[in-house]
Amino acid sequence: MDASSFLSRLETLLDSRGLVTAPDDMAPHLVDWRGLFRGEALAVVRPRTAQEVAAVVAACAEAGVAVVPQGGNTGLAGGAVPVGPAPQILLSLSRLNAIRKVDRVGMLMEVEAGCILQTAQEAARAAGRLLPVSLAAEGTAQVGGVISTNAGGINVLRYGMTRQLVLGLEVVLADGTLVNALRPLRKDNAGYDWKQLFIGSEGTLGLVTAAVLRLVPAPQHKVTALLAVPSPEAALALLNRVQDEVGDQVSAFELICGLSFDLLKRNCGLDLPLAPAPWLVLMQADSSLAGIADKVEEVLAGALEAEEATDGVVASSEAQARQLWALREHITEAEQREGPSVKHDVSVPIADIPAFLADAEAAVAAAHPGARANMFGHAGDGNIHFNVLIPPGTDKAALNRTVHDAVARFDGSISAEHGIGQYRAGELAHYKPAAELALMRRIKAALDPDGRLNPGKVLA
Ligand code: MLT
Ligand code: ZN
Repeated sequence: MDASSFLSRLETLLDSRGLVTAPDDMAPHLVDWRGLFRGEALAVVRPRTAQEVAAVVAACAEAGVAVVPQGGNTGLAGGAVPVGPAPQILLSLSRLNAIRKVDRVGMLMEVEAGCILQTAQEAARAAGRLLPVSLAAEGTAQVGGVISTNAGGINVLRYGMTRQLVLGLEVVLADGTLVNALRPLRKDNAGYDWKQLFIGSEGTLGLVTAAVLRLVPAPQHKVTALLAVPSPEAALALLNRVQDEVGDQVSAFELICGLSFDLLKRNCGLDLPLAPAPWLVLMQADSSLAGIADKVEEVLAGALEAEEATDGVVASSEAQARQLWALREHITEAEQREGPSVKHDVSVPIADIPAFLADAEAAVAAAHPGARANMFGHAGDGNIHFNVLIPPGTDKAALNRTVHDAVARFDGSISAEHGIGQYRAGELAHYKPAAELALMRRIKAALDPDGRLNPGKVLA
């Protein structure tokens, strides 16, 4: 089938806004938000229902056309941007955006893939519940993308990755089969838990069209604090202290290096409410019970006395808490405005964070003169964004190896939460043990034998 008869066939499956072929309208879908990855597609296809997605994917299977799914296009690994010249469509899930139900008593919600994460969070909150996945891009990221990438964010320490929140899933397979397993069950051991294969596989095994997500009780009381700490070792001692004292209520524990704050000031005009410090910790604890703020203040007083922290501010209002979080959420933007950088989204065992940071920083300084490490991240779960600001002429591939070799020395992962996409496919092939790679290829071959789902991603 030639391209124009294929597009005419798609037109019959969709409404009048479902098929986009005008180059200007397609353009925003064919590049990631940082402008690092660009691709081509025959069309941008925008179905409204899971049945339409299934029909489009079946038509693609018949015509031998590849499918690149895209949610909010907020990813950092080029996973939602087409690769290569093969005939392919960009399938945007954004019109499939209904919240089908919020069940307050059952503590769950059923939501379609294109629903903006923040819209889903607000619907949960309106029912007195919390959807505990939270990340800087939540105002644009879509639930389907969050599931397909098994997104992390700031609350993993307490609530786990997105994977831990998915109870049921609706997916479209490579041949267009629609599988509806939107079961609102917390316990379901009837056979393989196949939905795990689609969570975090970045659209390479199937397309997520809807999900049942687990909600938790919405905590009524919270306390947010920003602390200056002398070193990553001190930050871990502080983490240990808060976990001993208020462990089950700590929802976020972020470690941020001093350079991040220089960037925030210089590039976003955001000021630190503390004197400059080599490292900072932004933490939050929440509880259904009153008294959490007093308890945390008591714990922090102990930390100051033990010199695990040297200074600190506890938010005295919701507005101030938001300001503290705005600092954290703007780091990516501040870094982007500073100039070229190379991102590394890594994880190491929590207890090894200080040694890893020292090792990786020394290795980068030795091999890449003039490079500056902007280190921040979700230290409470072992995930560090080891982003490196680079001078012109830096060999980016060599820099990746320098940082990832350090990760490997600590038995860490080269992608903690951003995924592999096209950006890290080569690095995955280099660092993943052969037996695991072979297993991944067998799974891919079983579910997408012709390699038409998001080609060039994860397993390149
Ligand atoms: C974040 O946690 O802000 C992002 O995942 C990190 C990044 O931009 O590298
Ligand atoms: Zn992150």
